[in-house]
Amino acid sequence: MERLAMETENITDKNIQKILELFPNVATEGVNDNGEIVRAIDFNKLKQELSEDIVDGQETYDFTWVGKREAMIEANRPIRKTLRPDRESSVNWDTTENIYIEGDNLDALKLLQESYMGKIKMIYIDPPYNTGKDFVYRDNFTQDKESYEEELGIKDENNNKLFQNTEANGRFHSDWCSMIYPRLKLARNLLSDDGVIFISIDDNEVDNLRKICDEVLGDYNFIGTVARKTKLTSNKGTFLAPSHEYVMIYAKSILIAKSFNDTEAQENSDYLKLFKYEDEYSKYNIVGLYQPSLDPLRGCSNQRYYIQCPDGSFVIPQGTVFPTIVSDASFVVPKSTQDKVWRWSYERYLQQKNNLVFIETKTSPLVDENNRQSKWNVYTKIYLKDRLETGMLPVSFMDKYPNSEASKDLIKMEIPFSFSKPKNLIKYLIKIAQIPTQSIILDFFSGSATTAHACMQLNAEDGGNRKFIMVQLPEVCDEKSEAYKAGYKNICQIGEERIRRAGKKIQEENPDKKIDIGFRVFKVDDTNMKDVYYTPNETAQKQLGMFESNIKDDRTDEDLLYGCLLDWGVELSLPHKVEVIDGKRVHIVNDQEGFEPDLVACFEDSIPESVIRKIAEKKPTRVVFRDSSFVSDDNKINVEEIFKLITPDTKVKVI
Ligand SMILES: C[S@@+](CC[C@H](N)C(=O)[O-])C[C@H]1O[C@@H](n2cnc3c(N)ncnc32)[C@H](O)[C@@H]1O
Repeated sequence: MERLAMETENITDKNIQKILELFPNVATEGVNDNGEIVRAIDFNKLKQELSEDIVDGQETYDFTWVGKREAMIEANRPIRKTLRPDRESSVNWDTTENIYIEGDNLDALKLLQESYMGKIKMIYIDPPYNTGKDFVYRDNFTQDKESYEEELGIKDENNNKLFQNTEANGRFHSDWCSMIYPRLKLARNLLSDDGVIFISIDDNEVDNLRKICDEVLGDYNFIGTVARKTKLTSNKGTFLAPSHEYVMIYAKSILIAKSFNDTEAQENSDYLKLFKYEDEYSKYNIVGLYQPSLDPLRGCSNQRYYIQCPDGSFVIPQGTVFPTIVSDASFVVPKSTQDKVWRWSYERYLQQKNNLVFIETKTSPLVDENNRQSKWNVYTKIYLKDRLETGMLPVSFMDKYPNSEASKDLIKMEIPFSFSKPKNLIKYLIKIAQIPTQSIILDFFSGSATTAHACMQLNAEDGGNRKFIMVQLPEVCDEKSEAYKAGYKNICQIGEERIRRAGKKIQEENPDKKIDIGFRVFKVDDTNMKDVYYTPNETAQKQLGMFESNIKDDRTDEDLLYGCLLDWGVELSLPHKVEVIDGKRVHIVNDQEGFEPDLVACFEDSIPESVIRKIAEKKPTRVVFRDSSFVSDDNKINVEEIFKLITPDTKVKVI
């Protein structure tokens, strides 16, 4: 039963509603005196609606929403977090170069900035579409928490409350824009100069996404939007039954991006069947040299001439003016639309006439020298070899790979996840963008890890070694869900299990191929460092000595090592081994024969000089110790001197 309000109506709200019914375009969002976001009227727009003249105020082209400035700041705000390795959930830790990150992608993208800046060739994302049910977020950019508390109930693994964006939220679109904006800004930094980003989206936010991408990625880098058929039939909806969505595509730099090529279309057997003729050069298809659609009066002045057929007769498209018949007779200018023309100019015909194909037919659209229907038709050759070399552009309407393919795939694998994309769609995108066989592909809304599956599958097919980085929020599975009943506590567990099963199957199907089906799992967590260490201004220097260690007690050597890799911009996928030198554990990252290791770390206490010397002799690019590894400042200076002497180019740091 509804409650009595026991207070007077808000007349302003009612008035706003009335105006919006008349002029929906003047709607905006604003902040009231209590700092709450409310629906409001854009008075300049309303003034414009009521005036025949241009109203005062400078016009600017911009796209904004409530919280945009905060979202801009959010992208740049530093975080005190790290990625902690989780060997137990990983597969083939020591050999794999694939990465799976559990955590909020905003944190993950910030943490990856140093190590992966400019290194990602392709990003595919399938963010929540903002359907009113699918978009959850931690409340870090909203201003009015209390009023939303009741709608909630979703949590992440660490018991952080997640808010569901329902349409009742006055800043429904603003919140989504604020969510995607900083993530795209950070993602852009990771793209290589020739990199591309593909974003799946539907009608809910396609226009906002386009404007945000234009701003963040540059409108000149817009490659296009593919309209993609998601369902073959549907009768669900209100006015229309939605059965398509989009893939929006931007290049990091349109000038450097590789051209797209739809090799699948070329490999398609129906397409190949078209090339049913063959000469000494290649298989070929034929296309009529006469096309009725050509307008004779538009730039076709030298396209009307006789062509001699194999039996000596001459042919020409129908018309009223005819050239004099001599061999290779020159052209005549068409006088009206009755004077049909060839596709080729007269000059081109002279150059390439030996390559024409003449076929006898009863339905020729051509006339002979007596203006009677010819028994010949004339064709040009389209060589398969040339087509394979120049490639085919992918069409911007995609009617293959419906979503039902994804569901079937997951059912077969017994993976309970509802909103997955077909793996062949992602495989197709990797192929059309010609993503090199040695490259990193990132998906930071990875869900059931379809992108990882597609990447491994394509590697198996073409011998590539593309690596993936998946990021996924450990969103807790609803207790009533199939996934929960099947034992999955959160979506990360689903994604990781999908990669395990897919990898196993791919390897079984390709027993002779070496495919990287492993992945290293990392979890976003708070920094390894105790807070007090990094707030020295608040803590007198002398107090520092009171703390035994500046590192949190629950952190392992490996936690510290990977924290250092991130801080120092080293990739997380590099091979790592441990050597015990004079009783001390020393971590060595990327120790390849003939090359200096990328990083060597020793986090033990009281490291003797002998160990320092042996580390220096490896001439690593970077070395890191714990501050507490050295008993005194003299000890530290001594270490610096040893490195200066043995390997002056090595950078030495402490944590
Ligand atoms: C539409 S699903 C992606 C499905 C995926 N393409 C597939 O094929 O399985 C979007 C995913 O993004 C995740 N997600 C939403 N917000 C996130 C965030 N802030 N960080 C990481 N993942 C997030 C959701 O949990 C959901 O699994």
